[in-house]
Amino acid sequence: MKITDALRGEHGVLYVLFEDVRETINDSDNIEVIRKSISTLDKALLSHAGIEDSILFPALDQHIAGMGPLEMMRAEHQEVDELVAAARVEQDMATLKSQAKQLIDLAFGHFQKEEMALFAMAEQFLSEEELAALGEQWAAKRNVTVEGHSCISAA
Ligand SMILES: [Fe+2]
Ligand SMILES: [Fe+2]
Repeated sequence: MKITDALRGEHGVLYVLFEDVRETINDSDNIEVIRKSISTLDKALLSHAGIEDSILFPALDQHIAGMGPLEMMRAEHQEVDELVAAARVEQDMATLKSQAKQLIDLAFGHFQKEEMALFAMAEQFLSEEELAALGEQWAAKRNVTVEGHSCISAA
């Protein structure tokens, strides 16, 4: 499987989490409930961005290093990191809700740019074989079995 398809699939699951956090923010005024909901989302988001930073983006450096789209995606990962760090220590519920909405809006816009621009560029500059090899690295990190080949690492 191509790394780009794997990452699109992760976006699909994260969109579900965005909606779940939005519902929690709208329905609850319990800061611990809200914090737990954001915590699940932020772990999933950081894990996803970490896979892009360690597997896909380095492979693109040799083709589009320094170009707008790749550097913009890296800068937005940094913005996500900063918002997550701020939300983790926020004590005021209204501010925490606002930070969560900012995080979801930022991540949603970021995902749209990746899907419409960066992943398309990756598929333009990397060969099918390269995309599949990166997909194998993704499967190993995620402990996912692809095409009957187990990628579960021995503990
Ligand atoms: Fe990303
Ligand atoms: Fe992404």
